[in-house]
Amino acid sequence: NTNGLKAGKTRNIIEKIEEAGKNCIIFYGSQTGTAEDYASRLAKEGKSRFGLETMVADLEDYDYDNLDQLPEDKVVFFVLATYGEGEPTDNAVDFYEFITGEDVSFSESADPPLGTLKYVTFGLGNNTYEHYNSMVRNVDKALTKLGAHRIGDAGEGDDGAGTMEEDFLAWKEPMWAALAKKMGLEEREAQYEPIFGIVEREGLTKESQEVYVGEPNKMHLEGAARGPFNAHNPYIAPIVESKEIFNVKDRNCLHMEVDISGSNLSYQTGDHIAIWPTNAGREVDYFLDILGLTEKRDTVVSVKALEPTAKVPFPTPTTFDAIARYHMEICAPISRQFVATLAAFAPDESSKAEMTKLGQDKDYFHEKVSKYHYNLAGLLRTVGGGQRWSNVPFSAFIEGLTKLQPRYYSISSSSAVQPKKISITAVVESQLIPGRADPFQGVATNYLLALKQKQNGEPNPKPYGLTYEICGPRNKYDGIHVPVHVRHSNFKLPSDPSKPIIMIGPGTGVAPFRGFVQERAKQAEDGESVGKTLLFFGCRKRSEDFMYESEWEERKRALGDAFEMPIAFSRDGPKKVYVQHLLKERSKEINELLEKKAYVYVCGDAANMAREVNTVLAQIISEQRGIPEAKAEEIVKNMRASNQYQEDVWS
Ligand code: FAD
Ligand code: 2AM
Repeated sequence: NTNGLKAGKTRNIIEKIEEAGKNCIIFYGSQTGTAEDYASRLAKEGKSRFGLETMVADLEDYDYDNLDQLPEDKVVFFVLATYGEGEPTDNAVDFYEFITGEDVSFSESADPPLGTLKYVTFGLGNNTYEHYNSMVRNVDKALTKLGAHRIGDAGEGDDGAGTMEEDFLAWKEPMWAALAKKMGLEEREAQYEPIFGIVEREGLTKESQEVYVGEPNKMHLEGAARGPFNAHNPYIAPIVESKEIFNVKDRNCLHMEVDISGSNLSYQTGDHIAIWPTNAGREVDYFLDILGLTEKRDTVVSVKALEPTAKVPFPTPTTFDAIARYHMEICAPISRQFVATLAAFAPDESSKAEMTKLGQDKDYFHEKVSKYHYNLAGLLRTVGGGQRWSNVPFSAFIEGLTKLQPRYYSISSSSAVQPKKISITAVVESQLIPGRADPFQGVATNYLLALKQKQNGEPNPKPYGLTYEICGPRNKYDGIHVPVHVRHSNFKLPSDPSKPIIMIGPGTGVAPFRGFVQERAKQAEDGESVGKTLLFFGCRKRSEDFMYESEWEERKRALGDAFEMPIAFSRDGPKKVYVQHLLKERSKEINELLEKKAYVYVCGDAANMAREVNTVLAQIISEQRGIPEAKAEEIVKNMRASNQYQEDVWS
């Protein structure tokens, strides 16, 4: 596997660290960039505080069978996210299979094989999923079994509880202390040292051919984008249709059709589409303004890694505007550690004191920043009273902010019905927050909304006027486009259409089930025998957010009695009714279907709904079969293990 590696680069980690003069390798397994960020932060801190010669390494860029040869004065970190149902992230699959494999073998066959290896672990997980942090737990177990010695606690961050950052901060201090002791390191006064050098390129303008103004890679820059389209290379897909399927007060839901016929992309019913968003023009303006870069927004710069193992997270030469607009999460939550770093560059003493306090005091930070969902520009403006933060080296922003990430959406069409057109169903993220003047707006969903407005020639109806560049100013396409790629998932209909299925998807959780039902309706029309197709849907009110109402009637015509759709309207009656209440009402039928090996699918909110549905299913099995709840829970667990129970959930 040579993804992300240039030809000729070594996959031998020992060779690499010797060549680069390193003594601390920080491997990451990352899906959405958070683990990669934490790895970079640990690398930087290890270097500035303890003088470690750190390097960050993508797990997919190296081989591991010589880890047993790592000299004893070195240490290896593993910063590992768990993805989906306890799976490794895409870049960590090979490593995971290797290290947890039955017959793992190393080049020197010592006993124990990793007896001299020192390692540190931190896991990123979500406790609303059943396999919480299983990746890091299993890797830790495997390493210990191979004789390696862990330093400090095995850290675990919880995205489900929203405490990832705090878990990380709390874990790392004792870990550093233990590591310093073990390796005989002395702590020193941390000095900020930039990782990236920014060089202005006189003679180049944003119109120059070699300047990247949003293009993700060279092929795109040269107007010769070609597949394979994946997480490193999006397809700029035409949007053939976009509409609002409901719009009430501050909530709206979009339906979009994206044409992939001009690409070699394919999808299967139940897969995910990744949308590569652009930051809102207004946010880009605020960001550049508070940094004092408005005048220089179109200045062309090259960014060079000053560390041989650091990677510039976007292609250059480029402009400050393009970096902020297309490459960095300038709107995301800010880490307290980053705030502490910025304190040194504050425009005056009082801002410096405030930033230091925010960096140190978790509760104060929540009260002043997190509670209002402030992004970086919002925070700097509030703290500095609008003064420009022009003293901050731009490198600090590249280091302290995450790379702009694609957002995933459950494809809401069937590949059997429309193989070259992908449907998306997305609720636009917009929240009114008490004490904050403007609503908080999600990046990707408001980008999609802006694309829809542009495509339909609508004025931007929101008073706070968001503007978006669509795919960069070099966009030479007719019509409205959106950069995408497809991620294959295991959320799949049974291959035999006569098998019964139970789908549970309130709100946007109905997205993949629109595709499932479309597929089964086609199978029925084609004369196949289609089994019970039961869809539990939930929304607030029939008149407000009942999605795809007329389509379900059409499917009913094709599927007849095989298709049923119980709906929980939570705000139409005197009492809240949720999907799990309807499941309970149909206990007998649900149990009979399960006994006939019906497949169960749950999609949508991971935090509460999916968990409650799981509990209710176990209750139904227990009551109907007259067995203890613990036994019933075991049955549900086994259903999951055998894929009879599948989840596609997010928080
Ligand atoms: P973002 O800007 O990413 O914000 C998301 C959340 O992060 C906010 O609500 C807030 O809680 C927090 N946040 C962001 N910035 C800040 C800040 N500065 N301070 C504090 N908190 C902040 N969604 C759908 O609508 N339909 C689907 O079919 C669908 N399928 C999915 C399938 C999968 C496998 C996954 C993982 C997710 C899916 N999602 C789906 C969710 C979707 O990917 C996006 O997360 C969602 O649309 C929000 O994206 P956004 O960029 O608009 O919001
Ligand atoms: P509510 O907002 O009225 O509480 C889609 O969002 C639907 O899911 C809404 O009707 C919402 O109801 C409902 N919902 C909220 N929390 C839920 C939960 N824990 N389980 C199932 N449905 C829930």
